[in-house]
Amino acid sequence: MPKSIIEVRDCWFKYRGSLKWVLKGVSLDIEEGSFNLVVGPTGSGKTTLLRLFNGLIPCFYRGEFRGSVKVNGVDTRGASIAQLSKYVGMVSQEPENQLLAFSVESEIAFGLENVGLRPNEILSKVSSVLKELGLEKLKYKVPHELSRGEMLKVAIASVLALDPNVIVLDEPTSTLEPLTAIDLINLLDYLRKERGKTIVISEHRVEHVLPFVDNVIVLSDGRALAYRDVRSLVSEGVLSRIDVDEPALTMLFKALKNAGYCSRIPLSVVEAVEILKGILCC
Ligand SMILES: Nc1ncnc2c1ncn2[C@@H]1O[C@H](COP(=O)(O)OP(=O)(O)O)[C@@H](O)[C@H]1O
Ligand SMILES: [Mg+2]
Repeated sequence: MPKSIIEVRDCWFKYRGSLKWVLKGVSLDIEEGSFNLVVGPTGSGKTTLLRLFNGLIPCFYRGEFRGSVKVNGVDTRGASIAQLSKYVGMVSQEPENQLLAFSVESEIAFGLENVGLRPNEILSKVSSVLKELGLEKLKYKVPHELSRGEMLKVAIASVLALDPNVIVLDEPTSTLEPLTAIDLINLLDYLRKERGKTIVISEHRVEHVLPFVDNVIVLSDGRALAYRDVRSLVSEGVLSRIDVDEPALTMLFKALKNAGYCSRIPLSVVEAVEILKGILCC
């Protein structure tokens, strides 16, 4: 049985001063080592859901919170954000707000200083994470002068340096060009496969990430549906029903399927080519 690293049970949340429940009875499990996608239209509660995973709700954001969240077995209600940061690192939707130091090197060192590591350990961890993510050339650059793709990688490096079990990213590709978005998703796939990290990513546009995903959490007006099988989610047209853009590949193959040319919908271009070969050979 895979271990649940995050357990959410019947969670309801309403921001202070608001009458509206943003999360409505959400229950789900995030399995250790899995790649998870949270998908839903703007305002469906994606960011709010992610805030449950690292304890920002209920520790930082005030409001009415019901239900329970356990991270690595620790109930977030009784824990501090610092305690939970050992298990969950988060990259926010605006990495520029997360990057506060004058150099990339000190940005990554900042979190390590906060957990009380010795200076030589900090230097060695900073060097190794910069090397691992191919960011050495940015070491002395000012984070605010980087491109958005570079900023995101530095934010990921700062989180990774602390070695949490789970890395959560809020719509990281939403403002990236397609090639940069693909590069970022490949990095997350590497962290999951080579470093055993559990990845949770929210997205509004899903075409780049779908081929890498194990589980999808579909959010619609604060309610969550979990899909273990990404293929059925795509084939059943769930994305278009919740007002999330379907990838062009999905739309094309749905039309081909409806016209009787193929029986399945591919998740990646490589898979699409295989299906097309089958069609053309007949
Ligand atoms: N800090 C906050 N204070 C009050 N309301 C908020 C706050 N953050 C989000 N909301 C509200 O919660 C709802 C869901 O927002 P959010 O979780 O950001 O959805 P999504 O990430 O899917 O766009 C929206 O109605 C939004 O206005
Ligand atoms: Mg959001």
